Amino acid sequence: MYNLLKGKRGIIFGALDENSIAWKTAERVHEEGGKFVLTNAPVAMRMGQIKNLAEKTGSEIIPADATNMDDLQNLVTKAMEILGGKLDFVLHSIGMSVNVRKNIPYTESNYVNTEKGWDVSALSFHKVCQVLYKNDAMNEWGSIVALTYMAAQRTFPDYNDMADNKAYLESIARSFGYFFGKDKKVRVNTISQSPTATTAGQGVKGFDGFIAYADAMSPLGNATAQDCANYTVSLFSDLTRKVTMQNLFHDGGFSNTGVSNEVIERFTK
Ligand SMILES: NC(=O)c1ccc[n+]([C@@H]2O[C@H](COP(=O)([O-])OP(=O)(O)OC[C@H]3O[C@@H](n4cnc5c(N)ncnc54)[C@H](O)[C@@H]3O)[C@@H](O)[C@H]2O)c1
Repeated sequence: MYNLLKGKRGIIFGALDENSIAWKTAERVHEEGGKFVLTNAPVAMRMGQIKNLAEKTGSEIIPADATNMDDLQNLVTKAMEILGGKLDFVLHSIGMSVNVRKNIPYTESNYVNTEKGWDVSALSFHKVCQVLYKNDAMNEWGSIVALTYMAAQRTFPDYNDMADNKAYLESIARSFGYFFGKDKKVRVNTISQSPTATTAGQGVKGFDGFIAYADAMSPLGNATAQDCANYTVSLFSDLTRKVTMQNLFHDGGFSNTGVSNEVIERFTK
């Protein structure tokens, strides 16, 4: 432990259960001395175990649907009250596609589902940023991070409309990152994480094959949720102050690998 986040305050979205990337991140932020409010959609909290995490990390929970501006306003106001000042870090770790949930192929998208998934997975990031920006809720050199996946750049057919949502999400980080940088000296980045065995991850068809393939393709192997938590801590820390408007691959080298020996061996007669 390095005390990297001592004295820093923030909000962590998206801890559902102990597999969640946000859960692991909350634990690591706590270890590094950061204080935070946990939040999730009210419906998710009824099924989730977030209370255990709150107890373990001495945090309060404020429910918020990340698509609802009133919920987000309430969250940001209360978080600053509870934590005793402006925020230094925010993690957006939210994703959901109704088309994926209902096993509707990409070529047959139901657009009501598409819009809902886009609102939850992509537009919610703009909404979070807008509420933080308008309330002047971030301290200078604060850091806002959202999680994404490489299907935004390359096609993974079963990732379905989440690919489009992630492309939009990454674009928001660049666009809002400009204004947050100029006006508030705040960083906005996305982390493009390896496939990870979580509730959201397992929603993707053929996920086991997907995860094993990525592992075999990555020189360092897949990045785990724990690895992602560590990386996120570094982005919340003062050691990365000039990193902004980036999509940062955190995938053991997968994104720059054309093919690996392990994969070639499988096809060699
Ligand atoms: N698991 C993977 O393979 C993987 C890979 C790359 C990126 N990601 C991204 O990481 C992030 C976290 O996902 P995870 O894998 O930890 O899965 P997860 O299922 O544990 O987390 C997703 C969270 O989104 C929350 N959520 C859904 N709708 C919401 C709403 N309306 N308002 C607020 N919260 C809402 C859920 O309650 C849940 O806590 C997502 O953005 C996901 O796309 C995951």
